[in-house]
Amino acid sequence: MSLGKGTSNTQSSGGERFSSFGFIMAAIGSSVGLGNMWKFPYITGQYGGAAFFLIFIVCLLLIGMPVLLAELSIGRSGRGSASSSFTKVGGGPIWARLGILQVITPFLILSFYVVIAGWTLYYAFAAFSGQLFKQTDFSGQFGSFITGYGALGFQLVALAITGWVVARGISQGIEKFNKILIPGLIILLVILMIRAVTLPGAAEGVAFFLQPDFSKLTAQSALVALGHAFFSLSLGMGILITYGAYVDKRQSLGAASLAVGAGDLIYAFVAGLIIFPTTFSFGIAPDSGPSLVFIALPAAFSAMPLGAIFGGLFFVLLAFAALTSAVSILEVPVTYAMDRWGWTRNKAVVITSVLAFLLGVPAAMSLGMVPELTFGGKAFFDWLDFITSNILLPVCGFIITIFVGYFWKNAGEAAGLSAGWFKVWLFMMRYVAPILVLLVLLHSTGIIKF
Ligand code: PHE
Repeated sequence: MSLGKGTSNTQSSGGERFSSFGFIMAAIGSSVGLGNMWKFPYITGQYGGAAFFLIFIVCLLLIGMPVLLAELSIGRSGRGSASSSFTKVGGGPIWARLGILQVITPFLILSFYVVIAGWTLYYAFAAFSGQLFKQTDFSGQFGSFITGYGALGFQLVALAITGWVVARGISQGIEKFNKILIPGLIILLVILMIRAVTLPGAAEGVAFFLQPDFSKLTAQSALVALGHAFFSLSLGMGILITYGAYVDKRQSLGAASLAVGAGDLIYAFVAGLIIFPTTFSFGIAPDSGPSLVFIALPAAFSAMPLGAIFGGLFFVLLAFAALTSAVSILEVPVTYAMDRWGWTRNKAVVITSVLAFLLGVPAAMSLGMVPELTFGGKAFFDWLDFITSNILLPVCGFIITIFVGYFWKNAGEAAGLSAGWFKVWLFMMRYVAPILVLLVLLHSTGIIKF
């Protein structure tokens, strides 16, 4: 099946399309995920506060948004999957084969991402019902939750919601879902930010986040910022290529890239303004990862007036962020299966979700329930995360920059840029982005150290 055949010039009207607003919401929904909430504030604090934030902005502008535009352009011109779009826009079969990596990577990410999405759902219920705040050993509670069967149940619920949305299709499913959840998410962000910055002692947290410390800026921090810009814009996961296939040809891709980049940046900024004032106000270390979100923050909420409500809203926010990202990542293998094997959408959703669950269960169990699922000192869950985030994402990003920079003849036309902007973009894709992405890969795999 073709998703509306031909290149952008000979595009047929067949196939589903996003509305303009719906597409921006869906793309922002994909980028706004767990990454910016539990990793970004922490690395910002660690690598120099506002100084690091500035580098992150530069990375978003110089590398992130150009690669985002590249992915969208490939998708919209090819109107195929994250693999077949490469050949449909004129690349040889080798590119479609390399593109399969951009289908496998999101599938692997999906399998463990819904584990955490499930936790956010459980914590939202547990916070609102008051269950979460009945005792103050949050670390113990978290440990017993993730090693129990309940966690697998919530993982299944998260995957079922994701599958249900994707099964309903682009406009009735993904677009509608994001059009409701993203405005909801914005309201929650504002409420929680106001609460956080008005806590006693909040100023200290804001200062930690926003005071520039240029002495902490090193080559390493720049690479961390770039790696994070990549992850937080959902690049190298086939997502924007896949979403691009459903974008109307009148949509300006340059404007869309700007909107998504700006959305991601604002979300990251507000996340920092929630996390740091809250943790500082209650004297809790702003660690990154699960311990921040599921242990440190509940402790802070429990000490706050009306904490059950604010805590509940916070986990609803996280669940929204996680589910809108999960939906985008499931769409990649689903579109691939429809495009490659002619499966119906429903069949593709069911089979992909079942497989993702089968892989996700051992991942979830490796976090304590079945300690044998640890290899070389890393739990199976962490292996999946490491291989996808640190190896496959930069590799996929590199493939895209090389394809667009050196092999794609119609890139300018497909991206719809003016001659001047096209030159800038091509320069980035040829010389700047591939080198920096390669450096991120070598650094995140530990091959080079600073
Ligand atoms: N930008 C997303 C995030 O920060 C990345 C992502 C997208 C991860 C889709 C998983 C699924 O979480």
